[in-house]
Amino acid sequence: MKTIIEPFRIKSVEPLKFTTRDYRETVLKEVHYNLFKIRAEDILIDFLTDSGTSAMSSEQWAGVMRGDESYAGSSSFYKFQETIQNLFGMPYVIPTHQGRAAERILFSSFLKEGDIVPANTHFDTTRANIEFQKAKAIDLLIDEGKNPSLIHPFKGNLDLVKLKKLVDEVGAGRIPLCILTITNNSGGGQPASLENIKQVKEFLSQYNIPLFIDAARFAENAYFIKLREKPYHNDSVKDIVEKMFSYADGILMSAKKDGFGNMGGFLAFKEKKWVEMTQNLLILTEGFPTYGGLAGRDLEALAIGLREVIDEDYLKYRIRSIAYFAEKLVDLDVPLVLPAGGHAVYIDAKNLLLHIPPLQFPGQALAVELYREGGVRSVEIGSAMFGKFDELNQKAIPADMELVRLALPRRAYTQSHVDYVIEVIENVYKKKDKIRGYKITSGPKYLRHFTAQFSPV
Ligand code: F0G
Repeated sequence: MKTIIEPFRIKSVEPLKFTTRDYRETVLKEVHYNLFKIRAEDILIDFLTDSGTSAMSSEQWAGVMRGDESYAGSSSFYKFQETIQNLFGMPYVIPTHQGRAAERILFSSFLKEGDIVPANTHFDTTRANIEFQKAKAIDLLIDEGKNPSLIHPFKGNLDLVKLKKLVDEVGAGRIPLCILTITNNSGGGQPASLENIKQVKEFLSQYNIPLFIDAARFAENAYFIKLREKPYHNDSVKDIVEKMFSYADGILMSAKKDGFGNMGGFLAFKEKKWVEMTQNLLILTEGFPTYGGLAGRDLEALAIGLREVIDEDYLKYRIRSIAYFAEKLVDLDVPLVLPAGGHAVYIDAKNLLLHIPPLQFPGQALAVELYREGGVRSVEIGSAMFGKFDELNQKAIPADMELVRLALPRRAYTQSHVDYVIEVIENVYKKKDKIRGYKITSGPKYLRHFTAQFSPV
């Protein structure tokens, strides 16, 4: 059969609320054009994020009932731990309430002022948690990864030449760890190849710099390796995952993505010494080591989710759904990050809205317009999220790319929802020349995109 279908049927449904354009216009004014501030009930299709928004399976819901809520030594923790040990080959597991708690605990333990942490691309919370320790987060993505329309199978690869140059310049002593984000969320959900993971590890080994994998979307990355990296076409995703993590010293993971969890995360290590470094802070701020920041029922559901996500029928459908969405947009001439990523379609707003300069947030302008047109929520990943301010010259610096991400929650929407969103994008595309830019009227220092207020210019 050539039609790839959703490999599940629906047992429980949640109704969607339809709104009028006038209603949405009022909502937009009330939230100062910041889509994070819209009440979810006022959204028709929510592609803001694939994080914590996936549908759990009937098995996971059954697990919720089985969850062991004992304060210490919960059987759900041992299932969670065993799943992670088996899947990733990491003996030491520390549960946290979500990814950024894992980041905070890891970086508070590993980093001191002036340290440097390279990555292919740091996700925004990762960068913010590093900067919060007064260390520096540096992105060393291959140049191909920064060119949205350029086709390359592994645009999430870390550039080894740049890594070597960084180590030569600053010295390995200032680099306590290196991170690979897979897939590379901020750069379009693009995968890193197994060859790249291996080479990065081999390079770092010469300097005793540990490699950590930010594994939020590890299964999607593994499936791309199976599809695109020759030696692994015939390997199972499970074997590919094992190989990927054989090169890592540790994992930080938000289990709200490929863990199929509504909440959850963890740290995992190969070496015991890191447990000793991190456990105090875990107990101080998250909870006892056998639950971290999670309820027993969460641990149980995640243990099941982490096993379900490597199912190849599921991954085939998942990767194909995103590719379908992207292909339809390419047919409409909408500029995109290509090839399609693993969890989202990223529209290149800089090239779509050529008349809006980066410092007037073309991505934000497009995201607002998608909501106004059809009640669709997406997220800007551009200068509102990653723009900087040069204090010395008192100048705003735009981000490298101005993207709008439409992230698909896992197992939650069907193809006709996607077809509707494509129609909304088509309508917006037709009137793109009339869309105006925005300015920020107020915003905080860290992670300003969550709370900033905008107004049209
Ligand atoms: N790392 C990556 C690659 C992520 O995509 C995220 C979250 C985190 C870490 C932090 O995890 O949310 O559990 O604290 N990404 C979400 C997103 C928020 O929408 O892409 P968290």
